[in-house]
Amino acid sequence: MAPAPLAGGRLVLVVVVAAACMARWSEGIGVNWGTQLSHPLPASTVVQLLKDNGFDRVKLFDAEDGILAALKGSGIQVMVGIPNDMLADLAAGAKAADDWVATNVSNHVNNGVDIRYVAVGNEPFLETFNGTYLNTTFPAMQSVQAALKKAGLADKVKVTVPLNADVYQSPTGKPSDGDFRADIHGLMLTIVQFLADTGAPFVANVYPFISLYKDPNFPLDYAFFQGSSAPVVDGGVTYQNTFDANHDTLVAALRRNGYPNVSIIVGEVGWPTDGDANANPQYARQFNQGFLTHIASGQGTPLRPGPVDAYLFSLIDEDQKSIEPGNFERHWGVFYYDGQPKYPLSLRGGGNGNGNGSTLMPAKGVTYLQRRWCVMKPSASLADQKVGDSVSYACGLADCTSLGYKTSCGGLDAKGNVSYAFNSYYQVNDQDDRACDFKGIATTTTVDPSAGSCRFIIEITPTANGVAMAATVRVAGVMAAILAAFIHLVVPVF
Ligand SMILES: *[C@@H]1O[C@H](CO)[C@@H](O)[C@H](O)[C@H]1NC(C)=O
Ligand SMILES: *[C@@H]1O[C@H](CO)[C@@H](O)[C@H](O)[C@H]1NC(C)=O
Ligand SMILES: *[C@@H]1O[C@H](CO)[C@@H](O)[C@H](O)[C@H]1NC(C)=O
Ligand SMILES: *[C@@H]1O[C@H](CO)[C@@H](O)[C@H](O)[C@H]1NC(C)=O
Ligand SMILES: *[C@@H]1O[C@H](CO)[C@@H](O)[C@H](O)[C@H]1NC(C)=O
Ligand SMILES: *[C@@H]1O[C@H](CO)[C@@H](O)[C@H](O)[C@H]1NC(C)=O
Repeated sequence: MAPAPLAGGRLVLVVVVAAACMARWSEGIGVNWGTQLSHPLPASTVVQLLKDNGFDRVKLFDAEDGILAALKGSGIQVMVGIPNDMLADLAAGAKAADDWVATNVSNHVNNGVDIRYVAVGNEPFLETFNGTYLNTTFPAMQSVQAALKKAGLADKVKVTVPLNADVYQSPTGKPSDGDFRADIHGLMLTIVQFLADTGAPFVANVYPFISLYKDPNFPLDYAFFQGSSAPVVDGGVTYQNTFDANHDTLVAALRRNGYPNVSIIVGEVGWPTDGDANANPQYARQFNQGFLTHIASGQGTPLRPGPVDAYLFSLIDEDQKSIEPGNFERHWGVFYYDGQPKYPLSLRGGGNGNGNGSTLMPAKGVTYLQRRWCVMKPSASLADQKVGDSVSYACGLADCTSLGYKTSCGGLDAKGNVSYAFNSYYQVNDQDDRACDFKGIATTTTVDPSAGSCRFIIEITPTANGVAMAATVRVAGVMAAILAAFIHLVVPVF
């Protein structure tokens, strides 16, 4: 029986209102996909991981063919990136930018990749770069913009530059006093004018963890989203968390300089899980869940009510990132290197960061090397001169950032430390026997040395640049997948 017209009308209205609410409050969430790993997952596996978890936007740091090919037809919006070391070339003339856009944007857009932004450089004005990119960043943005215009893509693809939150500050600590950093004030206004003219967003990376890392007196609860014992009172507004305060410092800087309407994207926001006393899964979950729930509410920040457009940092741990900023740098992922979730997280908000929250979906079809680890020989002596040199060597080429005070493997004894370093090196080298010798003081084992929070990893099967495996090794891959699935059923270690 057909429903009465009135009832049908109401139903439509309800659906429309619900859809409008969804659009407002269930804004999707983006994520950064970095690729500085010794063993990257196949790009197609990562794209499936993004889809399974409902990430609808992804931010890349370059424009690798294999990754963009995997994103084709995925429905995921893409921000491609241009590394800082390419800025000088792009600034120098139109040809380089035309080539870059043709190869890395037009080709892929024509192929069904939903590219929305080009990020020209990555945090190029960081003080640690000593001004290296100050003269080239803006000209490079202009070149890329001109190239996109020539390619007929300027309406669809916007040019921006992700900047560290250190490009703005407040002399009083109150967000409403926010302004751009004095040494780059003029340059910032030039860039913001460009963003306003082209309808592109200001992309800012916001890191409460770094604030805490740099200042031991930073109030821990002010980093999270559950109220603070040290809120910042700014006129009629009380800031209970540093994210809102930081974001609104940027809003104030834009307003002060006559750009109240430039949109803002939070290019990176997150919390690492290892490599520092304050980097652990509990804090990371508390921060990320608090953040996701905060933005899912749709309330925005005091100076910018409404949806917040943000990209979590990051998707997967990267064992080859520089640890110059700190040992935590390789542990920002909400997933481990192999696409296994680290902690429960509800991307649509709702979880409170302590108890509830839904579980992330793990990567599917991941294949591992054999269940073999490298450890220090029980008969070897810590007094052996070879130990120190071997550990330095292993840790120089592999990843030992889970060792140290209050890290996941901080509780190991001295022999455990040595074994951890040896295994890390052995796995990076695809379990090559020659990588588990160390002049006779190391040996392989099939007994998992992992203990408590300390995971002795088994690497995943290597793939060429994280792109799909060659056809010849696919059969072996399928066998390994079956074997790995079997191992997982029997020993749910990971
Ligand atoms: C396209 O991007 C890739 C990866 O970032 C880069 O290596 C390559 O040089 C770019 N192509 C051009 C023509 O600039
Ligand atoms: C910046 O300058 C400092 C001090 O002069 C130096 O130690 C550092 O290596 C420089 N960094 C870069 C990226 O040039
Ligand atoms: C940038 O340009 C200024 C002014 O032309 C010049 O003094 C400075 O050395 C340049 N910086 C770099 C890193 O090229
Ligand atoms: C900002 O947007 C508002 C509302 O659309 C408009 O009235 C105002 O003129 C804009 N301000 C600037 C500086 O563009
Ligand atoms: C989790 O959520 C359920 C239902 O929403 C609620 O009953 C329960 O108390 C929550 N648990 C925690 C630890 O917050
Ligand atoms: C293990 O290694 C870490 C990092 O090098 C060091 O801080 C710690 O003191 C070592 N522990 C032991 C028991 O040697």
